[in-house]
Amino acid sequence: MPSPISGFSKKNKAEKIDWLASQYLEQDPEAIAVLKNYWHQDETLQQLHDDFTENTLSNYFLPLGIAPNFLINQKLYALPMVTEESSVIAAASNAAKFWLNKGGFEASVISTVKNGQVHLNYFGKATEMTTFFNKIKPLLIESIADTQRNMKKRGGGLIDIELIDSITTLEGFYQLHCTFETGDAMGANFINTCLETFANTLEKEAAAHSLFIENDQYPEVVMSILSNYVPECTVRASVSCKVADLAQDDISGEEFATKFVRAIAIAKTEPRRAVTHNKGAMNGVDAVVVATGNDFRAVEAGVHAYAARNGKYTSLTDAKIEGDTFHFWIELPLAIGTVGGLTRLHPMVKVAFKILQKPNAKELMKIIAVSGLAQNFAAIRSLTTTGIQKGHMKMHLMNILNQLEATVKEKEQTVAHFTKHAVSHSAVVNFVNQLRN
Ligand code: MEV
Repeated sequence: MPSPISGFSKKNKAEKIDWLASQYLEQDPEAIAVLKNYWHQDETLQQLHDDFTENTLSNYFLPLGIAPNFLINQKLYALPMVTEESSVIAAASNAAKFWLNKGGFEASVISTVKNGQVHLNYFGKATEMTTFFNKIKPLLIESIADTQRNMKKRGGGLIDIELIDSITTLEGFYQLHCTFETGDAMGANFINTCLETFANTLEKEAAAHSLFIENDQYPEVVMSILSNYVPECTVRASVSCKVADLAQDDISGEEFATKFVRAIAIAKTEPRRAVTHNKGAMNGVDAVVVATGNDFRAVEAGVHAYAARNGKYTSLTDAKIEGDTFHFWIELPLAIGTVGGLTRLHPMVKVAFKILQKPNAKELMKIIAVSGLAQNFAAIRSLTTTGIQKGHMKMHLMNILNQLEATVKEKEQTVAHFTKHAVSHSAVVNFVNQLRN
């Protein structure tokens, strides 16, 4: 049975692996070899990755693929996408190609305001808190003068601080609700530094405020942190074309568009479907967010909260037929950056930015929204026509073959066979067994 350890973080990498091997890996030489085989040969590069986080033992690979042919606001992009899911990049590429000769995608940033809060307790009268806040607001702003100097030079900085009285939802609960522009940075460190400075200033001023001294009752800071809910930092991407131009295989444009719009209507009304529907869009969003070194947990949390902003979880995308034209669009919040964090550190992220022709944060927001829209288009198109499994299993075929440890020859023969036959796990196993017999 494993025993607890103290000082694990102080051990070097080899010692950490030794400890892990003895406690959790039964000294399994294969498991240890896997950890070591994934080290990068270039020690400087490995050290860079080791330093991204703590207690690093090895690297965890995910594929980086490319979805070409994305025409966004009349500029042609190839999207770098990091995902482990088969058929996601193929679907994005298909959607990009589908819209390429129909005018491509349009995208625009709606707003870029980020926010954070200092959460406070105050159990005295609400008017006392308001009077105090109004008195100290200029001092709060003054207290971050140094912190925001550079950000201001880049056109960002604090927008405003408001006192929000939330005592009807939680006794004694107030917030300093602070809004910011952070330019090309995601801005998490900047915002959190500002918030903590506000918190310190507030506590210092409260200790000297005569009314609080008189009552011997002071506001108390509970915590200061940015919000990953960013409904004022949103982007819109859309496509449109003549309904007739949606005709494909044996389906008329009208039939396709009608069924497509109906599928969206279902996602708008039924949360169980909306979650899966949005998951499909997030396949596209996350893959570019990860490729560009952005915080996918922040994006995920913010997007799903936005999808539920009216009290019911609903679709991020919408579609309509207006006259003879089909319209399809997405609107979502995206707090991402093109400077700071991993963006200038991770060599693969730097290449991703180069592939994307060095976008600024607003351009990247548009690209990511388009990736989400394209992915959702591809999913709804499959679901309402052939069904998802046909394409998915075709792309999953290689995973099954790798599980079966198929040789190159076996792979070639199996892939050739399944161009004409439906892929299922058992069908592939049977076919490979036949080959081997
Ligand atoms: C699978 O990763 C994504 C889908 O389930 C999305 C959807 O159902 O719309 C295919």
